[in-house]
Formats: sequence, structure tokens, C-alpha cells
Amino acid sequence: MKIGIGNDHVAVEYKKQITAYIEEKYGYEVVNFGTDSSERFDYPISGEAVANAVVSGEVDKGIVICGTGVGISLAANKVNGIRCVTCSEPYSARLSREHNNTNMLAFGARVVGLELAKMIVDAWLTGEYEGGRHQARIDMLKDIEERQK
Ligand code: RB5
Repeated sequence: MKIGIGNDHVAVEYKKQITAYIEEKYGYEVVNFGTDSSERFDYPISGEAVANAVVSGEVDKGIVICGTGVGISLAANKVNGIRCVTCSEPYSARLSREHNNTNMLAFGARVVGLELAKMIVDAWLTGEYEGGRHQARIDMLKDIEERQK
């Protein structure tokens, strides 16, 4: 399993901590698409980069972090094929996998503490898409993308 990770200048330390956490706990490869500098860095750049990597199959899933998780998730969700959830708690993270088959997770470094962020990551990484009755809605999301082309 390969995880793409992205961040802006606000979330450099969170990105490093979450990368180490995933590598150690799950043994997954984590590919860095974010900045490692505290210089101002525009979140759409890394949000789009991780999203493109997910859609192309370069990575299996993506995690993106900015101050609130909002801006970077909006950037990711602009990319066709991306279903990125912004979470401040683990319940939505798990359900977003089980019902919505999210392929990207976002959270805010200024919103959730690091230990809560790890719980959100755990819930999201271990959540399995249930398919079945949920697939028709996922197909409808795809239809919206097609109508925008
Ligand atoms: C940067 O100041 C901040 O706007 C960004 O990290 C993020 O919170 C945007 O949604």
C-alpha cells in the first residue's frame, strides 16, 4: 500500500509525524507531495498533486493536511475521481470509507490534536468500503463529474 501525503506550510510538522506514524504502524510507503518548509506554500498545489497521484494510480490513497483541512480538501475534490473527506473525528472518517469509498482524507493541523489525528488516520485506513447499496450513489457522483465535462 502506498499513501500520498500533502500539506501546506501550516502542517509541516503534522505531515512528518503522520508519515512516521503510518510507516511504523502499518509498514506502508508514504510519498511526500507537500512542502517541508515554513515558507508560505499554497495548499492547492499539494492538494492537486496528491489527488493526481491517486487518480493515476501512482499511490493508492491520499492524506492532505492544511490549517483547517478545508482548502486542501477543496483542491483535491476538484480532481475528477477524487472523493476527499475532511474529518475532525474518527467516526466520519470510518463511515466515509464504508459508505462513500473516500480515496483521500483531509484534516486540519490547527483543528485536531496530533493524537486525535492519528485516531482519524487509523479509522480511515482500516475502514473498508461496503459496496452494495452505496455503489449507486458513488456512481451518481461520477455522473456529476461527467456532466461537468
Ligand atoms: C493558511 O493560512 C490556511 O489558510 C490554510 O492552511 C488552510 O487552513 C486553508 O484552508
